[in-house]
Amino acid sequence: MSSDAAKREAARAALKFVEEGCILGVGTGSTVNHFIDLLAAEGPSIRAAVSSSDASTQRLQEHGIEVMELNSSGDLDLYVDGADESNRLLQLIKGGGGALTREKIIAAASRKFVCIADRSKLVRALGAFPLPVEVIPMARSYVARKLKALGGIPNWREGFVTDNGNQIIDVSGLTISEPIKLEDTINAIPGVVTVGLFARRGADVLLLGGEDGVERID
Ligand code: 5RP
Repeated sequence: MSSDAAKREAARAALKFVEEGCILGVGTGSTVNHFIDLLAAEGPSIRAAVSSSDASTQRLQEHGIEVMELNSSGDLDLYVDGADESNRLLQLIKGGGGALTREKIIAAASRKFVCIADRSKLVRALGAFPLPVEVIPMARSYVARKLKALGGIPNWREGFVTDNGNQIIDVSGLTISEPIKLEDTINAIPGVVTVGLFARRGADVLLLGGEDGVERID
């Protein structure tokens, strides 16, 4: 089974969490793209979606799904999003697609976060995937020096601008043995908008598509 087919199966499995008439939080990425397409084709009809990126907003609207601002929706019952890595505690690395800030906000505002991914995303320890950090542009070099002092190898995602007008540094070489501590440490660097470690607020349910069907981890 291809990784794309596995992502689609995980996305399909998330449909059963969606309640008719709800306002649904929707993430970003290729797995979520499958989820949006399947929701439109065979899912329950929802009242509206709160979207984590311009790309997901466009896709939702192309399917005729209304997109609402989080400021108007209040807290959400359900958020569905992908991940770049997850450990068995459902702590995540996210932000490969650059939408980490809005994703973290919607995850925080949601009572349940269902994460969808192919099986390759489940890891014993986070950190093989370079950790995305969204930064205020003028702080990029300063933050990069601080990340280096933490033992990482910072790499500017040159040419990429987030939906919030900021820049991304991808940090490789980090040993993430204490995800919550590292999330707090990086968040505290002036100029950091968001770190793509979702450890304080990880997922509640992980659905992993693979050869043997969809594995659920709670
Ligand atoms: C975007 C994300 C995505 O959820 C993550 O990159 C996974 O993407 P994909 O579903 O394409 O593998 O965090 O910012």
